[in-house]
Amino acid sequence: MQIEHDKVSGQDTTGHEWDGIKELNTPIPRVVTWSYQLTILFSICYWVLYPAWPYVTDFTRGLTGYSSREEVIDILQSSSNEREVSIATLFSLPIDELAENTAIRKQYETSASVLFADNCGACHGADLEGQTKFPNLKDEAWLWSDLPEEIEATILYGINSGHDEERYAEMTAFGRDEILTKEEISELVAYVQSISGQPHDEALLASGTELFEENCSGCHGDGGEGGLESGAPILTDNFWIYGGDAQTLSDTIWHGRKGVMPSWENRLSKADIRKLALYVYWQSHELEE
Ligand code: HEC
Ligand code: HEC
Repeated sequence: MQIEHDKVSGQDTTGHEWDGIKELNTPIPRVVTWSYQLTILFSICYWVLYPAWPYVTDFTRGLTGYSSREEVIDILQSSSNEREVSIATLFSLPIDELAENTAIRKQYETSASVLFADNCGACHGADLEGQTKFPNLKDEAWLWSDLPEEIEATILYGINSGHDEERYAEMTAFGRDEILTKEEISELVAYVQSISGQPHDEALLASGTELFEENCSGCHGDGGEGGLESGAPILTDNFWIYGGDAQTLSDTIWHGRKGVMPSWENRLSKADIRKLALYVYWQSHELEE
């Protein structure tokens, strides 16, 4: 190994040589050594100012006393304060007053629509328009009542849900339980079709009318007009849960019906249930601006 002086570059070689190729001993560029020294300086400042070195059970705190844990606690605290204010607002007024309040509607409608899609959409449709066996919640036909507090009670306790305070409603199985004959049921089908504005067999109507008064109006109201808020639907409109065609009507009267709406009391918070009740109300009612 022989260190030589290279005349062209004016620098010494390292003394390494491979097949006549010699390596110049070029120093590291200054900018690299400076930035290296700067990073050392930076880390020393950091150790002094911020938490850095661990002890066995603790760590150095640094002069600033900064703590990312406290920062997170602060953020959580302020968002939970906001949530509390928001929940307090939902219980600050009776639900019927909240329902008519456009500022409240603006504040909660979007989050409530997400809650609805997540929890209720599978049965009632994300657009609230229902599907066979699951009622439309947007139309003016209500099984129970469209008062906000009654909608809230339906969501809390459910319908035929097994909850102690459930809403109970069952359509009798008139055929299966041998209360009515096949012929009588055909007469009733004609009658229900007539009151809902559908084509029907006129010849069956007179006896159908009589049978309806005797067997059905106690739950469905005179002439099927409903309004009893007993869980039995209005039969004069063209909104059907199960269907208004002759076959489905006949099946309904023969086998009876007992739809189940789950109770949400133990699945959602009181605040979420209140938001959902308001949401259902808002989607089915026009508010005055
Ligand atoms: C498993 C299916 C299912 C789910 C999920 C469901 N419901 Fe229902 N809901 C029903 C059925 C079925 C009925 C009608 C029961 C009947 O026919 O008597 C009903 C009835 C209702 C009624 C009464 C409508 C009226 O006319 O009085 C309201 C209000 C309602 N649901 C709201 C909701 C809300 C809000 C949610 C979400 C938290 C929800 N439902 C989730 C099945 C469901
Ligand atoms: C004990 C009360 C009760 C009596 C009596 C009763 N219903 Fe019902 N009816 C109901 C209830 C409750 C429902 C809703 C069931 C559900 O949604 O699961 C219903 C549903 C129906 C439906 C389905 C409507 C739809 O939207 O699809 C028809 C049709 C109907 N009843 C016709 C009759 C006829 C006709 C009679 C008389 C023979 C009768 N009901 C007697 C309680 C009654």
